[in-house]
Amino acid sequence: MPEEVLQTQTEMIRGFLRETDAIAVLTGAGVSAESGIPTFRDAQTGLWARYDPMELATPQAFARDPALVSRWYDERRRKSADCEPNPGHLALTRLQEEFEAAGKHFTLITQNVDRLHQRAGSRGLLELHGTFWVWRCTSCGEEREEWEVPFPEHPPRCQCGGTRRPSVVWFGETLPESVLAAAWQAAEHCGLFLSLGTSSLVEPAASLGRVAAAAGAKTVEINPQETPLSPWVDVSVRGTTGKLLPTILSARE
Ligand code: OAD
Repeated sequence: MPEEVLQTQTEMIRGFLRETDAIAVLTGAGVSAESGIPTFRDAQTGLWARYDPMELATPQAFARDPALVSRWYDERRRKSADCEPNPGHLALTRLQEEFEAAGKHFTLITQNVDRLHQRAGSRGLLELHGTFWVWRCTSCGEEREEWEVPFPEHPPRCQCGGTRRPSVVWFGETLPESVLAAAWQAAEHCGLFLSLGTSSLVEPAASLGRVAAAAGAKTVEINPQETPLSPWVDVSVRGTTGKLLPTILSARE
């Protein structure tokens, strides 16, 4: 990306930030990439290479082989526990603090299940797809944060004797109603929508940018690749969030 294009885009985004008192941010796996966590559609590595994540992240896969799916999520928990939030996560935390200190609205909506945003200090997140740090019993429904890494047994058991599954949204499952409604509301009422590190392929998250645009918000995307959202946004920046967010979101004189 030519430097002068990036400079112009940065100035435009800084102008949008100055002009709005309500921002909604949607993040995807790309925001965690510079922390060392492979994105969802990155090729799986090692012993998981032969599995398609789209196959593993389903209720059918868990019913067929709960230990295998539990091991896959435990591996991803372990990996994310070894990773640190990157400058992109931290830039979003600073932006939230700045907006809220000025009495403005900041909503962070994430598709990520790794909780790196929370570890970076972000608060009040809308986790559209849940998190693998919370597991729920398939018998009694009890949900519990599970911090032990790795699990001593696969899948982990509940005191009631039932089997625990990760509290993430699998393909074919519906998103948590209240979380999705809050995300939709934030997109409809923001003055600026940022789509960061997401392929914009998975609904309903992928529609939020267009909902914001239709409601009159300025829209920005940051992604090294083009996505289906790119033609719809006001500014589409080709680049990585870890590198660009600290610059773009920094002091806006
Ligand atoms: P994907 O793996 O589909 O897309 C990651 C996006 O991040 C791609 O568009 C990459 O180009 C981009 N990217 C990679 N490195 C980046 C970086 N350093 N900075 C910025 N962008 C970068 O992940 P998601 O879009 O999050 O849902 O996928 C959405 C959902 O698809 C996931 O939440 C998951 C999956 O179905 C569930 O598991 C329910």
